[in-house]
Amino acid sequence: MALNMTKRQFLKSVGLAAGAAAVYKTMEALDLVGLGVANAAPPPDLPANSGYGKRVVILGAGIAGMAAAYELAKAGYDCTILEASARAGGRNLTARGGDVIGEVDSRQWVDFDVEDHLYVNLGPARIPYHHRTILGYCKEFGVELEIFLNDNRGALFHHLDAFGGNAVVGRRVTTDLRGYIAELLAKAINRKALDEELSGEDKGRVLDMLVEYGDLDPDHLYKGSSRSGFRGEQVNAGLGGGVPNDPLSFGELLRSDFWEYKLHFGEFLDQNSTLFQPVGGMDAIAKAFEERVHGLIKYQSVVEEIRKTPNGTRIVYNGGQAMDADFAICTIPAPVLKDIPNDFSPETQAAIESTTFVPAVKIGFQTRRRFWEEDHAIYGGISWTNQDITQIWYPANGFHRDKGVIMGAYIWDDRPGQGERFANMSPPDRLRVAIADGENIHPGYGQEIESGVSRAWSKAPFQKGAWPESYAAPEALKVPDGAIYFAGDQTTSLPGWQEGAALSAHAVVNAIHQRIMAG
Ligand code: ALA
Repeated sequence: MALNMTKRQFLKSVGLAAGAAAVYKTMEALDLVGLGVANAAPPPDLPANSGYGKRVVILGAGIAGMAAAYELAKAGYDCTILEASARAGGRNLTARGGDVIGEVDSRQWVDFDVEDHLYVNLGPARIPYHHRTILGYCKEFGVELEIFLNDNRGALFHHLDAFGGNAVVGRRVTTDLRGYIAELLAKAINRKALDEELSGEDKGRVLDMLVEYGDLDPDHLYKGSSRSGFRGEQVNAGLGGGVPNDPLSFGELLRSDFWEYKLHFGEFLDQNSTLFQPVGGMDAIAKAFEERVHGLIKYQSVVEEIRKTPNGTRIVYNGGQAMDADFAICTIPAPVLKDIPNDFSPETQAAIESTTFVPAVKIGFQTRRRFWEEDHAIYGGISWTNQDITQIWYPANGFHRDKGVIMGAYIWDDRPGQGERFANMSPPDRLRVAIADGENIHPGYGQEIESGVSRAWSKAPFQKGAWPESYAAPEALKVPDGAIYFAGDQTTSLPGWQEGAALSAHAVVNAIHQRIMAG
């Protein structure tokens, strides 16, 4: 953030008088350092028994539904969660050996070995450091966390039409593209193309910066850098010195799609380091909630109607059983909710209909050895490709063990159609196609794979999609429709994040409390 002169002078005087620590504290007080402390969302702290005598029916035992039940129950509300499936967690789904992954037209037996590190998170798989609400629950419930990585300079970039279709290592792509950009900018400055934008003094500073930033020669040319590694597949100089890699061709780099988003993926706010994953699988979070609200959940209770009554709401489920309540909290994903008979207002109905979900697909493969570590020194992170599988994730756990589970595809449908295409394949075909794509990145890939499992979220029962396509939830889902409140990531600007689910739960819990207090 740019400081205006008054503030800058003020801070300078504070610094002269009291030193750097005082400057920082003063900046904090002036909210100039952007620590984002306001993002810390403490759970609702409702007075004990403030919900006494009030019945709330919650539709869905995903993260939003369970967080709402947990908070309301603490305040004495009488809560029931109707969960359509036989398990809690919603889209928070971890697959391990022996599990069965059911879709609307298939069932897959997960043939992974039963070991603590051999699992795949088929739903949420990473938690950024600023998702303080869900991290707050991890802390409160004692869910142990470990570091998850997006960025790995040792992982690969692959494009069928660049570099002869061969994968190139991230450290070379990052270093060389930066070097070329720095060289071009230096040329523009030296040719006086930026004289209007930069003062003489600043031109010198920018040139100095570009030399450091891009590792340019003193003549401002990029001729390669040891940051990219060394010739002959040598990553570091080791005992013998070594010659830095020749730079990759600028033209090939431009021809690839690496720069579209893959190269700066970790710059997106929700993908910034530090990222976390629960030790042993993301479902540790779902299980921690379930342990606390288990007695409130009615499993295999499929909602058939959502009605308004003079005093609240009536939910009809499982062949005509009815449950009346003062309030409902509906977390049912829009693609499912839109087909449930209801008494919603036209605005609510339109909002639900307009909330379409991404048909994301994930595939996990168990491998006979950790070839990415053994052969390439890849420890966690992501390799990217322009093929349908989009990316391969290497596990951020189980380093140096015998086997591993990699994410062999994570399709989020940035090219329209590929998510649905995979969804419409049989599970064995999905694995075959994903292995064929992977072969182009890691030759010999198929021989390393022992078994696999896929999840096409558009075919997930009671979900019908992965997360809302739009980052702007419709206003009608942020307010109650009569006594029916809406929650889940689909009501927030954090679609596809457990943070959105937990935040939305807090929002409805507070709203119901305030409504009761207002009489
Ligand atoms: N939040 C999801 C992800 O990070 C969509 O992949």
